[in-house]
Amino acid sequence: MLDRLERLPADSILGLAAACRADPNPDKVDLTVGIYMDEQGRCPVFEAIRSAQQALVAQEVTKAYMPPAGDEAFIQGMQTLVLGPDSAALAEGRVGSVQAPGGCGALRIGAEVIFRAAPEARVWVSDPTWPVHFPLLGSVGLTFETYRYYDPASHGVNFEGMLADLQRTRPGDVVLLHGCCHNPCGADLSLEQWGEIAALAEQRGFIPFVDIAYQGLGAGIEADAAGLRLLVARLPEVVIAASCSKNMGLYRERAGLAMFVCRDESSAQAAVSQALVAARGIYSMPPAHGALLAGRVLSDAALAQSWRAELATMCERINGLRRELRHKLAASSGRDFDFIERENGMFSFLGLSTEQVLRLRGEFSVYMLDSSRINVAGVNRRNIDYLAQSVAAVL
Ligand SMILES: Cc1ncc(COP(=O)(O)O)c(C=O)c1O
Repeated sequence: MLDRLERLPADSILGLAAACRADPNPDKVDLTVGIYMDEQGRCPVFEAIRSAQQALVAQEVTKAYMPPAGDEAFIQGMQTLVLGPDSAALAEGRVGSVQAPGGCGALRIGAEVIFRAAPEARVWVSDPTWPVHFPLLGSVGLTFETYRYYDPASHGVNFEGMLADLQRTRPGDVVLLHGCCHNPCGADLSLEQWGEIAALAEQRGFIPFVDIAYQGLGAGIEADAAGLRLLVARLPEVVIAASCSKNMGLYRERAGLAMFVCRDESSAQAAVSQALVAARGIYSMPPAHGALLAGRVLSDAALAQSWRAELATMCERINGLRRELRHKLAASSGRDFDFIERENGMFSFLGLSTEQVLRLRGEFSVYMLDSSRINVAGVNRRNIDYLAQSVAAVL
């Protein structure tokens, strides 16, 4: 039976990263996969996570299953991190949460619960969005609609187009929003625009589903969650998928949280019960290690302070790279790259054609996605001049 299976191509982003690793050119530049990299091109382990891990390994006495909803310190810590210490929804007990395997697992569990509540709901996704949203939410049975988002001409958000498209939502539809550091374009909504989205959600009756995978890597922990917190303050229902992969460097440990902000406490409990049944049908129990580490860091004042400081340094590095890259690209090409500095987080579309991207890859060993999306954190002092000159050469 298995011999009937057709062999499928490898994931295009991971395939590109592998091609870069295999490239013998010593000047090669890898701007493909969305992981944070430091000046040495390494994806580091946070000091606070390292300390928490040492303590965990020393103290751990069992590998018995986690509770189905996950680690309590992790859930409490993440809810406060994402929703803020003053969240009224949290104080009112209207938030139910379930630990999940990474942000992907949280997106999937969020989609499962949405489908159980409203199988006819359509999920509106930004054009473009992170491509993995489609299999993660679509495999549950939800269908998609697209709203205009990125405007390549201005390198910013086409907010008028977005509003016009969301006017076509039906009550009970779901609008998937990137909490911050939009992947792939880096263009985020202003707080005022988040306010307009909240007003439109009230008017049209759609439910926001916020994917927040980069909190702390755009403008800082609080600023990056401000739009999401505004929605939660104004709307009765919001679904949230949070990830600790990037902002705690826990990628392979698969630590994420699905949060259901509901009208009241009993609806929140119902949502959690549905999420647990959904999880039982996929992976049963959440993985322990990453969430236990994140829970320890978030609940220990000294570790939390160390983590916040290290995250702030990463965020400053990314924003510093954005400034430098903007100037170097402008100087070498004579074109305007101001938009790179206006964007948030790790991603940016350089605005190159596929042909130019392929030339960069073939002639200069500079690897970015065909769409010209780059991971800004892949830039460093050693490769920035070469990158700017290579881009100028294909322009
Ligand atoms: C937009 C977005 N959402 C969610 C995720 C989920 O990440 P993970 O499952 O590794 O936590 C990612 C990771 O790249 C992402 O870019």
